[in-house]
Amino acid sequence: MSVGAPKIPVTVAEVVTVNPLVKRFRFVRRDGAPMMPFSGGAHVVVEMDDHGTRRLNPYSLMSAPDDTSGYEISVRRDDAGRGGSVYLHAHVTPGMQMVLSAPVNLFPTDTRARKHLLIAGGIGITPFVAQMAGLQARAGRFELHYSARSRELAAYADTLTALYGDRVNVYLDDQNQQINLGTLLQGQPLGTHLYVCGPKGMIAWVRTTAQTLGWPETAVHSEEFLAPPVGLPFTVQLAASGKTITVGPAQSLLEAIEAAGVVAPYLCRGGACGECETGVLACDGAILHNDHWLTDDQKVGQTRIMPCVSRFAGATLVLDR
Ligand code: FES
Repeated sequence: MSVGAPKIPVTVAEVVTVNPLVKRFRFVRRDGAPMMPFSGGAHVVVEMDDHGTRRLNPYSLMSAPDDTSGYEISVRRDDAGRGGSVYLHAHVTPGMQMVLSAPVNLFPTDTRARKHLLIAGGIGITPFVAQMAGLQARAGRFELHYSARSRELAAYADTLTALYGDRVNVYLDDQNQQINLGTLLQGQPLGTHLYVCGPKGMIAWVRTTAQTLGWPETAVHSEEFLAPPVGLPFTVQLAASGKTITVGPAQSLLEAIEAAGVVAPYLCRGGACGECETGVLACDGAILHNDHWLTDDQKVGQTRIMPCVSRFAGATLVLDR
């Protein structure tokens, strides 16, 4: 039984240093066939063998959705993370063979919207690069507000400005520039949909401001794939499989389940899609919920867990897997 989206064997065609923190990777199919088209906002899962540790990390596609010659992602190096981004930066070079999942879109533009208001922070720009190409091709109405730490770290700001002119607005922290969010949201025509992708604090700020100003929840869209956090090792019993596994400090529970040869469902691997939700049969301790899928009540109840991002501290955790 296979889980996740279908796999695509690829060759790394190009690696480009975009700025001191970001590299762009281009993949083409090993069999020379075209990639399948996707819609802006889609992501792929990149499989990596990081010195014996199998990592599967999700990244937004940023190439044009109708460009079937290859897929492109941009990766921000996170030196404090578990290692996936560092591995891509340090070890992935043109000619290498890798495996991607087929695209899955958990952050599409809403076709009912009369206008699309896009708000990006840092590397959160990547899904919007593909979305804007798709909207431009369909003559969709949009504008981008993009916040970055500095001009040097504002990946693709110049390219996007050259393509889309005054529909692109860039704000630089080191110039004390900030999005005037209240005014921006109040000045939008009826039927506008709002999209935000960036750091957790930015997503919360945009969502809270929109809610305060009376934006309907159905018109506000966000995407934040959470990186599985590092933590102390812990032991888990898998009741259906009859196995007991230990989750390492830099390993996610989902990765540990997979490493034990147990099939487990997933799509985003970032706590956002709900696909990996697993029942908890017994828990003596605290589940460290890191997802934004389960409700607060479900988290307190400790009867469900999202193994892609959540951990455990305590004596016993038995899962229905
Ligand atoms: S795989 Fe999407 S929430 Fe876990």
